[in-house]
Amino acid sequence: MGKKISLIGAGQIGGTLAHLIALKELGDVVLFDLAEGMAKGKALDIAQSSSVEGFNADIKGTNNYEDTKNSDVIIITAGVPRKPGMTRDDLLGINLKIIKQVAEGIKNTSPKAFVICITNPLDVIVMALQKYSGFPKNMVVGMAGILDTSRFKYFLSQELKVPANQIESLVLGGHGDTMVSMLNHTKVNGKPVYDLIKEGKLKKESLEDIVLRTKNGGAEIVKLLENGSAFYAPAAAGVEIAESYLKDLKKQLPCAAYLDGQYNIKDLYAGVPVLIGKGGVEKIIEIDLNVEEKNNFENSINSVKDLFNAAKKIDPAL
Ligand code: APR
Repeated sequence: MGKKISLIGAGQIGGTLAHLIALKELGDVVLFDLAEGMAKGKALDIAQSSSVEGFNADIKGTNNYEDTKNSDVIIITAGVPRKPGMTRDDLLGINLKIIKQVAEGIKNTSPKAFVICITNPLDVIVMALQKYSGFPKNMVVGMAGILDTSRFKYFLSQELKVPANQIESLVLGGHGDTMVSMLNHTKVNGKPVYDLIKEGKLKKESLEDIVLRTKNGGAEIVKLLENGSAFYAPAAAGVEIAESYLKDLKKQLPCAAYLDGQYNIKDLYAGVPVLIGKGGVEKIIEIDLNVEEKNNFENSINSVKDLFNAAKKIDPAL
């Protein structure tokens, strides 16, 4: 039997997710949104491209959670995106309420689903989703690190004029202004990025600019679009997680995952490398961090903790 993938939120990211999932034939898609017409309209539009693209997948739009019943994968983008000048954290109050409704909607209908959350502020929203839904912690992840890493790799590839797929790197921690580009784990064609600086092939300042531009990667797009936030790259990143789960690829991917002592962090979601396979988050991978990476990572974790405390003030049930 084919897999069933439900997308909660049929906005910019939700629509792009549906399109990518159809093109890749990962399964049948249910596009859910409170705005029923948006979900149905996008589903119909994508379905009408099937004979041109040659894919075979059922795409439905709905505003009824019953239609998402027994999903294998659920990807959540329901929520409000940023406006120019806003930080992701500014979305906390409104998106927390939305995520509570989503948790109510999916917990009884798809208790066995693997859930990927994309709604911001990511780390706190994915943690709230897990708590509100009661889903097993290994079956709930947040998408952020793949996107941040992909942005970093792209900027570095442009600077060095090499294809982005020749760059290895990791951006970890919280999906906010404190995210950490792991420079000691960054390699270009297998060569450590610090060696390129020593050899005069990359300026230290250029690398610092890239780290900063990565942190502001989302805001840069919000400013350009004026009305909405990034959606192509976030959707591609969400699909990579879903595919690794559905096909049991056991890819090592940076995701917001529940930490229970790993990296000395307890009872918190944050961005770390994890292994995604048919068991969901099958393993948290603990990489060695040098002193600078460790300090920056701890700083980022503290900001996630602060934001979660702010969430608890909004909803003591958390
Ligand atoms: N249940 C279901 N859908 C909802 C709900 C809800 N309670 N509340 C809002 N939505 C829907 C909206 O109707 C809208 O169609 O969520 C959709 C969000 O789509 P966009 O506004 O286009 O936002 P998008 O760019 O897709 O980003 C969604 O992901 O990256 C994050 O910061 C981003 O939090 C934002 C989210």
